[in-house]
Amino acid sequence: MSSIPVITIDGPSGAGKGTVARQLASELGYHLLDSGAVYRAAALHALHCNADLDDERSVMNALASMHARFEPHPDGVQVWLGDKNVTPDLRLETTGNAASKVALMRRVRESVLDEQRSFRQAPGLVADGRDMGTIVFPDAQLKVFLSASREVRAKRRAKQLKDKGIEVIISDLLQEIGARDERDSSREHSPLVAAHDALIIDSSELSIGAVVEQILSALPREVTAG
Ligand code: DC
Repeated sequence: MSSIPVITIDGPSGAGKGTVARQLASELGYHLLDSGAVYRAAALHALHCNADLDDERSVMNALASMHARFEPHPDGVQVWLGDKNVTPDLRLETTGNAASKVALMRRVRESVLDEQRSFRQAPGLVADGRDMGTIVFPDAQLKVFLSASREVRAKRRAKQLKDKGIEVIISDLLQEIGARDERDSSREHSPLVAAHDALIIDSSELSIGAVVEQILSALPREVTAG
């Protein structure tokens, strides 16, 4: 087991994991893993290859030719597939839904494990996703499960997309979030569940700053002293 500290932040989409993880990583000077971006990149590449997203073998065949690069950026990770920066496409709802589909597949999940673990580098890592605390970094120094009501999450997601110039209808988003939650939580491999030793935070009524404060104050001494 590595002694490099990891803080994991798992939870459903729109709970604020990404923003909280970014702020936390910046406060601590840690590296950042946006594991959703890894699944989104895989899904996008599979789509580019016209793979059948309901067929594991077809998706795995497509992934054999994937060359993805993840570069840290203050606004979130920048992702390259080959020599093309695909970051704008990565954030589309269609890509998120496709990611949720390929993330159901055991072989896909196994194929991205090493990539995700390679982000664990000194002085430490903040990793956000669905199974960071349960599967990818079970020995994390602090595990957080961040949730929020479905309505709050839909509104936040709509605002995020609007800021990027993408207009959405809230009721459609609510439905998509519901379907994605259901798929992420009920899947056989690495379902979205809180680790038994996770600190559970409901962010519905909390600002990002308040969530970050709660996490910082829960950090074990060995991490803050390091
Ligand atoms: O966090 P996000 O919306 O970018 O994630 C996109 C999809 O990827 C999400 O629906 C489920 C999947 N995912 C996953 O299964 N495991 C992770 N650790 C991160 C994301």
